[in-house]
Amino acid sequence: MTRKILVTSALPYANGSIHLGHLVEYIQTDIWVRFQKMRGHQVYYVCADDTHGTPIMLRAEKEGITPEDLIARVHGEHSVDFRDFLVEFDNYYSTNSDENRELASAIYCTLRDNAKIATRTIEQYYDPVKNMFLPDRFIKGECPRCHAKDQYGDSCEVCGATYSPTELINPFSAVSGAAPERRETEHYFFKLSDCADFLQAWTRSGHLQEEAANKMNEWFGSGLSDWDISRDAPYFGFEIPDAPGKYFYVWLDAPIGYMASFKNYCDKSGAGDSGLGAKPNFEEYWGKESTAELYHFIGKDILYFHALFWPAVLESSGFRTPTSIYAHGFLTVNGEKMSKSRGTFITARSYLEQVGNPEYLRYYYAAKLNGSMEDIDLNLEDFVARVNSDLVGKYVNIASRCAGFIAKRFDGKIGMISEHNAVIMEMRASSEEIASHLEQRDYSRALRNVMALADKANVFVAGAAPWEMAKQAGQEDALHRVCSEALEMFRLLSIYLKPVLPGLAVAVEDFLNIAPLSWPDMSQSLPLGHVIKTYQHLMTRLEPTLIAAMVDANRESLQPAVHSEQRHAEHQQNEAKTEIAAAEKDWEAFISIDDFAKVDLRIARIANAEHVEGAEKLLKLTLDIGEEQTRQVFAGIKSAYDPATLIGRLTVMVANLTPRKMKFGLSEGMVLAASDDRGGPFILFPDSGAAPGMRVK
Ligand code: MSP
Ligand code: ZN
Repeated sequence: MTRKILVTSALPYANGSIHLGHLVEYIQTDIWVRFQKMRGHQVYYVCADDTHGTPIMLRAEKEGITPEDLIARVHGEHSVDFRDFLVEFDNYYSTNSDENRELASAIYCTLRDNAKIATRTIEQYYDPVKNMFLPDRFIKGECPRCHAKDQYGDSCEVCGATYSPTELINPFSAVSGAAPERRETEHYFFKLSDCADFLQAWTRSGHLQEEAANKMNEWFGSGLSDWDISRDAPYFGFEIPDAPGKYFYVWLDAPIGYMASFKNYCDKSGAGDSGLGAKPNFEEYWGKESTAELYHFIGKDILYFHALFWPAVLESSGFRTPTSIYAHGFLTVNGEKMSKSRGTFITARSYLEQVGNPEYLRYYYAAKLNGSMEDIDLNLEDFVARVNSDLVGKYVNIASRCAGFIAKRFDGKIGMISEHNAVIMEMRASSEEIASHLEQRDYSRALRNVMALADKANVFVAGAAPWEMAKQAGQEDALHRVCSEALEMFRLLSIYLKPVLPGLAVAVEDFLNIAPLSWPDMSQSLPLGHVIKTYQHLMTRLEPTLIAAMVDANRESLQPAVHSEQRHAEHQQNEAKTEIAAAEKDWEAFISIDDFAKVDLRIARIANAEHVEGAEKLLKLTLDIGEEQTRQVFAGIKSAYDPATLIGRLTVMVANLTPRKMKFGLSEGMVLAASDDRGGPFILFPDSGAAPGMRVK
């Protein structure tokens, strides 16, 4: 049965570049879409840039251009990034479009007519210099809990407290620096609380992953408040039809952007599936009576919008609701959140420039993704090892070892392929199991299966040793059969890997001289006498030096960057724990000699060492580094050292680390210590003769 499926990924904001974190989602979705298309279903994959809101307005202003110019430029950049990562949308549109304005306005009017909109006067911070109301993230001040200065209006980066901007001490506008005033303003609300029954039923009837449904229960527990959907001018967005000077909050029109992108696709002349010119029908996918499937792939951070507001808005305005929301976790790099100072905040473009082949990353992400909301880690060493061992060592190897014989000995012609070859039989028999893992978005299991099959193919080739056969007389037929069967195995593996490695699949199809592979091609072997082309390298090894170069290129060495919005968003995902983790963190895997020379390592005398109240792992050290200089350092060594035994001893410290504000005070460096699962931490103590202040080179 052919399924009709509409798939979306979240709409990336139009004020920043696509980075490796975003790509988790677009690659995850793209693999799923390609898989469904290979299965013969009618699938549309649409997305768009999310273009509205204050940050985009201010960003354009800062660059001295109009928001329209900014979003046009970013749309170009995003489109090219996605294309180069082989993320193939059927339509990539914009929320700042006529379709979206019309749909958002119509939905709003229906909600209003159904008495789902209320207005209320609220008090909000206002910037009297800039003449605008300030979103929480544009107000800064002193943390009401730990009194750290310069914290955002919603949470403290130092102690992790969350609060409302009205609780900040000495608040100021991050836009103008002025002290904000409290002002009254009328806002429009969507009556989410009216939808409580519907939402409870909806979230519990299989539309969400189990973890997500549990999260929903927590939210229901704390009660549903009405949702503020309006913002005052100046705002870059759509003006509310019957409310001059009031604009739709960006999160109202953003998900409607899914519909708008699809509508635009339906209306485009010549658009259609399989190039047949047939256009999908908007109603068939979004109408109340739709029997099509609708899936939204998102990150776990935006679950609230997709699992509560969005179904409630759709239900209350006469549209169908999603079949499922598929949420994924966040990307970490080497076990930590992406970081500019560590060079692990890597843009899509930088990866392409430094590393090149997007399919290494597609493969690695796929190997890690399992359909849950767990975070996924890009471990850079493991990345290199995994790609080289699986793709080059196991998969491509099968073709490269056998193709030459077919070309040289048999005029490029495929010989007899036995349908009773045990490996081929097992490969065919695995098809539904692998398909079901892909369907469930458990790519990790699917690829484990595929690689286990690739191992068997390699065992088959190694056991038959075609290179030995080639030296012996009378082995021609056997040689021909072994190489042909091995290539058939390679072809079958290529079908399974095609959703993940679509570019490589095209090269394979060209080499094997066959039509584009799809799932049903599983059952038909390469025909006897079929002529293949000369083998060209399909994939080269990933060199670790490329990864090192990429990390270097992305490292923002100097000061901690001025708090950009991105940093703030980054921060919200992970919290204060990173402060302590950073103190204990090992050196990065790859650095250049020049980078190493930047590190000021010094002999230090531990002038004082003491416990820190409330800290589980830390000792507070006062380090004397000669010339009357001392440094205060918080070191994660409490588990291994009694502070009294440390006083007076010499050690090695990093003396030029940017000071970090920690929960317990300022940390002005780092002492060197070793540890792993065998034990530690073990502090490094210098040989006798070393003196405080000496440089370690
Ligand atoms: N504009 C909103 C989405 C609106 S959808 C109607 C938004 N944009 S975003 O650019 O911040 O993120 C786009 C998608 O990328 C989100 O699903 C988000 O979860 C995902 N990711 C952004 N950073 C990520 C990681 N570091 N790791 C994994 N996914 C991440 O949210
Ligand atoms: Zn604080």
